[in-house]
Amino acid sequence: MDPELFEAARAVRERAHAPYSRFLVGAALRTDGGGVHIGANVENASYPEGWCAEASAIAAMIAASTPGTGRKIAAVVCVAEPIAGRPTTPCGGCRQRIAEFAGPDTLVHCLDPAGAGITYRMAELLPGAFSMDRR
Ligand code: THU
Repeated sequence: MDPELFEAARAVRERAHAPYSRFLVGAALRTDGGGVHIGANVENASYPEGWCAEASAIAAMIAASTPGTGRKIAAVVCVAEPIAGRPTTPCGGCRQRIAEFAGPDTLVHCLDPAGAGITYRMAELLPGAFSMDRR
């Protein structure tokens, strides 16, 4: 695993805005250029308007990079409490969002705040991902 990425995700989780669900999520991603970008979930009083930690981290990556460079995701760490004893994994929409910038072998580490959890390859989390890339 990537201790710096875990620590970034663990720390940003504590800054989440989740007053409605009280379910804090932090995400940190590393690009193949080595850059680290972070995000937390941001909820809203109009519940469907909230967004996920992974979406925040991807938005931070886009804001910090130039089109065509620094936007390939090498690894992601998501930190949240387990649900029913199982590691929390990215929601379906966020799997598609990550896939937009990742490859089938990109690692997605789903960890609790103590660092325990499970690691998936992107291809396991979203087999047959929709893609406009016809190469
Ligand atoms: N959440 C995330 O931030 N990432 C996920 O992949 C799953 C769910 C957030 C959304 C909402 O703020 C809270 O967790 C409860 O669903």
